[in-house]
Amino acid sequence: MIALGCDHGGYELKQEIIKYLEEHHLPYKDFGCDSTEAVDYPVYARKVGKAIQDGACDKGILICGTGIGISIAANKMKGIRAALCTDCFCAEATREHNDANVLALGGRVVGPGLAVKIVDTFLNTEFSHAERHQKRIDLIEE
Ligand code: RB5
Repeated sequence: MIALGCDHGGYELKQEIIKYLEEHHLPYKDFGCDSTEAVDYPVYARKVGKAIQDGACDKGILICGTGIGISIAANKMKGIRAALCTDCFCAEATREHNDANVLALGGRVVGPGLAVKIVDTFLNTEFSHAERHQKRIDLIEE
């Protein structure tokens, strides 16, 4: 189950991502916001982070205007590894190396076509070479 969250700066891009998830029959839970009316991005980072911490969702996608604020907020939460990605190389690498569980996107940075490809890459790339990378992830958690 994929947790979705955004602020007003990410609302429109979130709608595009919802279209992609529905077309691919990928289950998701949308934690808001629900319009382009101004809201505070940490609130939505927290809802998505909590859903992952509780085990209700295994991955999340967070979107604000730049993706920066919402990823900073999410990364304050234990066990949350949010990666702000603007290209598919980083989306692939952050899954393989960091076992990132949240993808952060900037609704005012990436267009919908690229964003959907980034989402697709993020969701379809497994954590790999654990023998090298797990220790580093454990160090982050410490
Ligand atoms: C909201 O205007 C904007 O600050 C927010 O979406 C985000 O870009 C923050 O990092």
